[in-house]
Amino acid sequence: MDRVAFFTQLDRHFERTLAEHGASARGVDWPSAESQSVRFEQLLKVCGDRTSFSINDFGCGYGGLLDHLGGTALEVDYRGFDVSERMIALARESHPGAEWVTREGDLRAADVTVASGVFNLKLDVREDKWRDYVVETLGALDRLSVVGFAFNMLTAYSDPPLMRPDLYYGDPCFFFDLCKRRYAKDVALLHDYGLYEWTLLVRK
Ligand SMILES: C[S@@+](CC[C@H](N)C(=O)[O-])C[C@H]1O[C@@H](n2cnc3c(N)ncnc32)[C@H](O)[C@@H]1O
Repeated sequence: MDRVAFFTQLDRHFERTLAEHGASARGVDWPSAESQSVRFEQLLKVCGDRTSFSINDFGCGYGGLLDHLGGTALEVDYRGFDVSERMIALARESHPGAEWVTREGDLRAADVTVASGVFNLKLDVREDKWRDYVVETLGALDRLSVVGFAFNMLTAYSDPPLMRPDLYYGDPCFFFDLCKRRYAKDVALLHDYGLYEWTLLVRK
């Protein structure tokens, strides 16, 4: 998979959604702010009882997770990373004090890393190539995380007539097995929060 070409296409996609909806849940292609929050809640479960931690937001978009965290009692050292300069510029505008980067290499390890919606849009990349790319990227999430990491994906258990060819529907059993064998003894699969997707929590 040619990552440079892919990220350029991805940025064009989000250029359109942002032009239509601005820096908002719909602007990053979520159907609603409510569903975006539900996803954040699932991912943050990787922190367990911790009320103070550092977090890498991998594929942070305009920084919706930071807004969400602002409404909680958690004490968080937040760093946002997105390949899209456009997204990071928007994030910086609304949160100039936070740390924002566009290169993965500029991220440092944090207690936890979360990735929401990063693996959904595959555009015209072949399914097997996309899965290899996802597996490789999970390696990066692992390296960037001291305590654990969490990510979500659209589910392979979606209703076939509603599935789109430009989206990736991950098999939760495959990714559960991979994370359990490769990364941690404590892995939790959440597939019970009312969306056509799942979240994996990987606690090291
Ligand atoms: C569906 S949006 C979700 C944004 C944010 N996580 C949220 O939930 O509001 C996915 C974001 O991931 C970014 N992205 C996709 N693949 C990425 C990668 N490999 N590394 C960093 N960012 C990525 C996209 O540019 C986009 O901003």
